[in-house]
Amino acid sequence: MVTDLVSLADLTGDEILELLELADVLKRIQKEGRPHPFLAGQSLAMIFEKPSLRTRVTFEVGMLQLGGHAVLLETRLGERESVPDVARNLDRWVDGIMARTFSHEVVTQLAEHSAIPVINALTDKLHPCQILADAQALREHKGDFVNLKLAFVGDGNNVCASWFHFAARIPLNVTLVCPPGYEVETDVLERAQRDAQGEVNVTHDLAEGLKDADAVYTDVWASMGQEEEQTTRKKTFMPYQVNAKTMKLAKKDAVFMHCLPAKRGLEVTNSVVDSPRSIVFDQAENRLHAKKAVLTRLMERDKEGLCPKKRARNT
Ligand code: CP
Ligand code: NVA
Repeated sequence: MVTDLVSLADLTGDEILELLELADVLKRIQKEGRPHPFLAGQSLAMIFEKPSLRTRVTFEVGMLQLGGHAVLLETRLGERESVPDVARNLDRWVDGIMARTFSHEVVTQLAEHSAIPVINALTDKLHPCQILADAQALREHKGDFVNLKLAFVGDGNNVCASWFHFAARIPLNVTLVCPPGYEVETDVLERAQRDAQGEVNVTHDLAEGLKDADAVYTDVWASMGQEEEQTTRKKTFMPYQVNAKTMKLAKKDAVFMHCLPAKRGLEVTNSVVDSPRSIVFDQAENRLHAKKAVLTRLMERDKEGLCPKKRARNT
């Protein structure tokens, strides 16, 4: 049983589908205005080494709606004291930790050294919470994942890697269309190609990658922490901009997706991000519902008052 959300690769396909179903239920309950205090009295520590709008607001509002509350820590971990010590302090006071860090290893260390659930809210390698919300939105617009194709156009970055992990568990076809040298990491690609029930591949050719795509996804060309590469990346990535012409290479009814924030005029034009085919704000909305599903699943206690992680350690 999963006790942290560090990577979607740690979950089974059934666990991912259960989270998506719970997210749908929580969305419905929320829209009906029914209280759902599944985490009454519980606290979440939110650690941010990088900026955020969506993640910051939806974790805090999500905890409030679940009857708990969140404590914000804007700090670079490992500088004032070791990451294991931070983990061993926090688990004496709060019931869960979410962390957005530069280094992925910081999140894995937090998970290893704390007795409470740890949620990866973006690292240099992965962004699993984003993909759960996106998958919820994709399913709302396109139905079941089987036979769908998502073309990720741009950098083989943290968001892209989490899509590849998703495709390793859920039968969705995923193609990365990127400039040479910006492919997703080899181990992520190989794992997805080994385990996927659908097709998972990488191409440098836009027409080939976008052919028959049901969803066209893009993200910034330079992620947080890569700001100094922005100018060189702009030249390399411009041929991969998602604009009206690019969208014509996909299916007629393909949706446009972006995790946001978008650099309008770079990876995507206004004509696409503001078009009726764009579902970016549905994705953003679902950050709330999908995260509430993750929080509930990981932090809801059993009769002895134990969270899943403590329970796992006691057995
Ligand atoms: N998509 C996303 O994670 O947004 P924030 O960086 O604003 O949290
Ligand atoms: N790839 C982007 C995602 C932002 C939500 C970054 O890491 O900055």
